[in-house]
Order: sequence, then structure tokens, then C-alpha cells
Amino acid sequence: METVVSGIRSTGNLHLGNYFGAIRNFIRMQHEQRCFFFIADMHALTTHPKPGEFRKSVKSVLVEYLAAGLDPEISTLYIQSDVPQIPELYLLFNMYAYVGELERCTSFKEKIRKHPDNVNAGLLTYPVLMAADIIIHKAHKVPVGKDQEQHLEMARNFVNRFNHLYDVDYFPEPVAFNFGQELVKVPGLDGAGKMGKSEAEGNAVFLSDEPDAIRKKVMRAVTDGGPTQENQSKPEVIGNLFQLMNLVSSSETVSHFEHTWNNCTIRYGDLKKQLAEDMITFTSPIRERIAEISSNEDYLKQVISRGGEKARQSAAATLKDVREMIGFTNS
Ligand code: TRP
Repeated sequence: METVVSGIRSTGNLHLGNYFGAIRNFIRMQHEQRCFFFIADMHALTTHPKPGEFRKSVKSVLVEYLAAGLDPEISTLYIQSDVPQIPELYLLFNMYAYVGELERCTSFKEKIRKHPDNVNAGLLTYPVLMAADIIIHKAHKVPVGKDQEQHLEMARNFVNRFNHLYDVDYFPEPVAFNFGQELVKVPGLDGAGKMGKSEAEGNAVFLSDEPDAIRKKVMRAVTDGGPTQENQSKPEVIGNLFQLMNLVSSSETVSHFEHTWNNCTIRYGDLKKQLAEDMITFTSPIRERIAEISSNEDYLKQVISRGGEKARQSAAATLKDVREMIGFTNS
């Protein structure tokens, strides 16, 4: 069995794009591999969040992942800052990370460009902390999107340097885990690009959205003047609506609307109404679980404490080995 680690940023609410793009795969994976999923709260500190909001966002991400189906009995679900072995390993690995390569990292350059007034050292060493997150459990696979590929490549470099320096074959090289065929791009409702929380208002349907909010967003989705020829190919905005329908609706519903598209009798209003109802059917049980779990503080405390314990146990074993290899006297 291989070890899988993935960190979840504690920003904003989860939407259907997160669900079909990542969470659904996490949920499947947890039965097949040794999985560690954590909330990357220390990473979030680079932007100096206010304590109250910070605490709230960590809680809501945890609640939403549980509601979506991550099972804390099967995978190890924890909060990064509950595992002090991670920052210790991060300190050690800062010795194998060169300032030049950290400065060349695309995400760092992007941050400098966007926030020139807050170029802190935590941002520069973000990839080292991320590497520590992964290798603290000696993970092989890291399910992340394309945007994290460079960070993973850096993690592999640090690991190889360590293994080489101490002449060991201790850490496996972590690789991105993508789901091949199963990797779906989930479009947003504003006509172009993918669903994302930083896109325009109304582009994303959140798992916690009330039915009326979903209806409103879907009814406002961008469409065009309609098909003019039988069996013509679909422009992107319409293709996107069908793609969303493919994710949440039955195959009968999809073929019905395909048919009306092909013979030019399609009514976008009907399609949107159906799409909204099917999204509501899909998200409602999750939304109800979000409310339920969110109010059950005892359960949440228990999940966090049990997950932290399991994660610390795995982390401590790795750190003990590392300290020994490095040559600390008290390892
Ligand atoms: N950098 C990741 C992101 O922005 C989050 C993250 C932190 C992560 N540590 C990780 C992902 C370790 C995978 C493994 O999405």
C-alpha cells in the first residue's frame, strides 16, 4: 500500500469544482491507500489572517470535507499546526534548499508581483514547508493540481539531496498523483474557464449554497442565441452547461437535452431549471451534513484530536530516523 498526502488550503468554501476535481478522488483513494489529508493552516499565515476569521475558515474547511465524505476513521485527517514535527523537519530541510532556487519558483515570483509589500521569508520557503508536509509521512503520492507540479519537483530535489548527503535511500521521491481519465475540468457558470472562488460572483456553486442561491446562479448563467442548424457543434458557453449536467444529472436528462440541441428545439430556460434542480439534489445532503457537523463541536474536537494523534505518531517515527541520520546526539 502506498502513502498519499495532500494538503488543503483553508481559504473559502468548497464548490462543485473542488468536489469533482479533487474531493471525489480523495474519497475514493482513502479505501485503497494509506491516506493523510490535512488542513494547511501554517501555510495560510503568509497572508497574516485575523485570528477570528482564521479559526473560522479552518473549521469550515474541516466541516465541509467531512460532510463531503472524507472519513476520519479510514484516512488520517488533521490540522498541520497540530503536528510540531512538521515545522521541525521544515527547519532541517531549509538547509538543503537553496535561496536561488526558491527565488526562481513561479509561485513566489507571482506573489512578489501581486503583493510587493509582503514578501516575507515564509513565502520564500513555502515549498520547503510543503516538502516537509509530504515527506514527514514518507509519502509516495501527492494528489494535487497542475499548479503544484513545480513545488513537487522542488520537494523531489530536496529529498534527493538529503538521501545523497547522508548516503541513504530513506525518503521516496514524491510524485503528483493525477487521476488520468478521471480528472475532470469543471467549468464555471460565467461562460469561460473553470469554476473557481476567485472568479466573478455567481461563477461557482458552493456545497453549502441554499437551493434558491443555486437557482439564481444557474438561471443567470451565460447562454447564446440558440442553435441554428441541426447537429451543430456547441459553443463553449453551452458546452459548459452540458458538462455540468453530465456531472450532476442522470444520463436520460443529458440525452434529452442533447436531442433537443440537435434538433434545435432546445429551450435554455428548461435546461437551466433542470440543471439547478439536479445540482440541488446533489448538494442538499452535503449541505445538511455541513449544518449538522458544524453544530457538533464535540464530534469535531474528537476528529481533530484523534487525527492529530495519528499524524504525530507517523511524524515522530520519521523525525526520529532523520535526527539519527543527521547525527544529533539526542535522537
Ligand atoms: N500548496 C498547496 C496548495 O496551494 C497546499 C499544500 C500545502 C499541499 N502542503 C501540501 C498540497 C502538501 C499537497 C501536499 O494547494
